[in-house]
Amino acid sequence: MDKEKTKDMADRIFRDMAGAMAVGLAHLGTQTGLFRVMADQGPMTLDAVVRGSGLTARYVEEWLKGMVAARYLDYAPATGTFCLPAEHAYLLASETTDHYMGGLFGMVPPLLTVAPRVLQAFRDGGGVPFADFAPECREAIDLMNRGNYEHRLVDYWLAQLPEVVARLTAGGRVLDVGCGTGQVVQALARAFPASDVIGVDPDARSIAAATAAMAALTPPPRLIHATLDAVPTDLRCDLILLCDVLHDLPTPLPVLRDIRQRLAPGGVLFIIEPRVSDHLEENIHPMGAMFYGFSVFHCMTQSIAHQGAGLGACMGPARTKDLLAEAGFSRIDSVPIKSAVNLFYAAHP
Ligand SMILES: C[S@@+](CC[C@H](N)C(=O)[O-])C[C@H]1O[C@@H](n2cnc3c(N)ncnc32)[C@H](O)[C@@H]1O
Repeated sequence: MDKEKTKDMADRIFRDMAGAMAVGLAHLGTQTGLFRVMADQGPMTLDAVVRGSGLTARYVEEWLKGMVAARYLDYAPATGTFCLPAEHAYLLASETTDHYMGGLFGMVPPLLTVAPRVLQAFRDGGGVPFADFAPECREAIDLMNRGNYEHRLVDYWLAQLPEVVARLTAGGRVLDVGCGTGQVVQALARAFPASDVIGVDPDARSIAAATAAMAALTPPPRLIHATLDAVPTDLRCDLILLCDVLHDLPTPLPVLRDIRQRLAPGGVLFIIEPRVSDHLEENIHPMGAMFYGFSVFHCMTQSIAHQGAGLGACMGPARTKDLLAEAGFSRIDSVPIKSAVNLFYAAHP
């Protein structure tokens, strides 16, 4: 046995345990507002953080020390002060921007809450349907994606499809399939007021959140609580989106065929999927490990819960393009958009 290899593995296990605990502490930091309290303040004493946050001193003290150990905060032993560097605040205390990463932490508690049911599924089959995840799961997905949908979707991502943008600007129709809490629908409604904007999702809680969020928009976009097959097929669309949805679908092929029928001549299906390679050996990095974890504790499992395909978050570009070709799309392009986490496709009927 190679002793060095065993030692490396022990180190990795400690690093991963530390990572798991750091995520828990960082989640507390976003939920309590502690990161926001420390942003732009420079070095702070424990008393100053307690006063600024209004939280219980002993808990704040232990949290500060833990976040120092995990290198989220800097510590100055000479003065006993704690500092959230500007470079870290940019990622941790920047809610609603496209560089906020604090939303990721919120995924972990609701995903690990279903761990006993996932364990059961390993033994007995079946899965955990989307509706059974705690409300915090929808909130985390919303928070994780919101900044990108608000700031990048229209101005950067869809700008790669100028003909579609021109049609929607003049007044066309766009359908977001699996709209969740409606961030994409909101961004589209704001950008294309002359267009008919529709969101569809079978999850009642997501549609309720989307409806509440859109109350102030005039005219309010149409939100439909249903799976796509229940939506009337007479509405031809210039653009249909599947944002972080295709790999979740229990029946991806029938849905893709249905989408193709709903596209107007010249219309486009725009797809956002996790950035992974087709080859497992190229997914050996933190992003790959994160996406496989999301897949086992959520994406694959909620699809299998409906006796579905269970494609999983890491199905990769080759499988994605094969599915689109099998569904009858005549042209399938990878859209060259720079992103650390996503891959983008445009499929033409
Ligand atoms: C990971 S969430 C993505 C939500 C949103 N698009 C986003 O990017 O934040 C996947 C969504 O797909 C929805 N979904 C699953 N099956 C569907 C179907 N057959 N038709 C429409 N939506 C579906 C789920 O209810 C869920 O809201």
